[in-house]
Amino acid sequence: MKIKSAVLREIGAKTPYEKSQPIKIETLELDSPQKGEVLIQIKAASLCHSDLSVMNGSRPRPVPMALGHEAAGVVVEIGEDVIDLELGDHVACVFVPSCGHCGPCREGRPALCEPGAAANTAGTLLGGGNRLHTETEIINHHLGVSAFSEYAVVSRNSVVKVNKEIPFEKAALFGCAVITGVGAVVNTASIKLGSTVAVVGLGGVGLSALLGAIAAGASRIVAVDINETKLKQAKELGATDVFNSKDADVVEQIRKVTGGGLDYAFETAGVVPAMDVAYGITKRGGTTVTTGLPHPENQFSFPYVSLTAEERTLKGSYVGSCVPSRDIPRYMDLFQKDRLPVDKLITDFITLDDINKGFDLLAKGDSSRIIIKF
Ligand SMILES: NC(=O)c1ccc[n+]([C@@H]2O[C@H](COP(=O)([O-])OP(=O)(O)OC[C@H]3O[C@@H](n4cnc5c(N)ncnc54)[C@H](O)[C@@H]3O)[C@@H](O)[C@H]2O)c1
Ligand SMILES: [Zn+2]
Ligand SMILES: [Zn+2]
Repeated sequence: MKIKSAVLREIGAKTPYEKSQPIKIETLELDSPQKGEVLIQIKAASLCHSDLSVMNGSRPRPVPMALGHEAAGVVVEIGEDVIDLELGDHVACVFVPSCGHCGPCREGRPALCEPGAAANTAGTLLGGGNRLHTETEIINHHLGVSAFSEYAVVSRNSVVKVNKEIPFEKAALFGCAVITGVGAVVNTASIKLGSTVAVVGLGGVGLSALLGAIAAGASRIVAVDINETKLKQAKELGATDVFNSKDADVVEQIRKVTGGGLDYAFETAGVVPAMDVAYGITKRGGTTVTTGLPHPENQFSFPYVSLTAEERTLKGSYVGSCVPSRDIPRYMDLFQKDRLPVDKLITDFITLDDINKGFDLLAKGDSSRIIIKF
């Protein structure tokens, strides 16, 4: 079938993207779903920093690539061997498909699925190859989804069936920002009731971590960003203290008011200076968790002795250490009970044609989640 899709043609284009237009809206051919795959009609998709990182070269990926991964839609065609989805089901997309058979999958860690990671790096689907093309070229898939498109063919294991009562633009957030931010808090760190928490970087992922920390019973939540709009938003969402990390002495300030730092610090900006702050404000015996996906060449250093003499823990968190089919319904249930108000992350709506401008907005830092409705 023919579909309209947002295709990244050039990595590292000049900003503003509204002017350089590295993403083109094109008509592509989308093949039918193969064994273990479904065709979904995308109803809403949001802009994530991981898309922006492909555009600016921080996440090297093959182009041309049809971008987008945080999305929700309706199942409209079912491939062979898919026995647990029906036409008309609503689904949220998850950005790592899991095979169910590799080492990490067998250990209950599908976020680390090896064939899933390999397919994502290659720009293919989990089942191998591409379903998107023009008459002359293959178009790569972004994270097994390619959601800035009217329709997408995805692995059955790239989607989770969701409650039809949840509007698509809200359901979309759960497959990346929410599962990552909340999961970092409740799965990767498993924070304790009454513990103290810091979140450094208040985009879709960071604000989800903040809401996850409130839901999980953190007693104090320090929110840190370089953008005042974000600090204001964090305060409205329930942060107890906010700090601007443009202040050169932000680490000292936070350590002073918290009496030596926080039990847990989450780095959710994806830049080394934010990681420096997160590590610096974690207290003795505390845990620093990062969800950041910086350029592969970026290095982060810290005093070696602090790990030992202060019994510090440093952890990475990918897709919130999730089991998607377990976690997305749980987080959605809490959302419906007003205990995880992640819809407050939505700050803007744009059209598919305005997608380059949308990424300028995301890069500027005032917006949390920018949604395209189809
Ligand atoms: N681990 C995962 O599974 C996973 C999933 C999704 C996104 N990510 C990554 O997480 C990061 C955040 O993604 P997002 O979509 O929420 O990004 P975003 O662009 O929405 O937000 C990033 C925020 O970080 C802030 N920031 C930038 N520099 C800072 C600094 N020095 N100190 C404090 N704050 C700073 C920005 O002002 C902005 O508010 C990115 O690296 C993204 O690729 C990881
Ligand atoms: Zn994402
Ligand atoms: Zn696997």
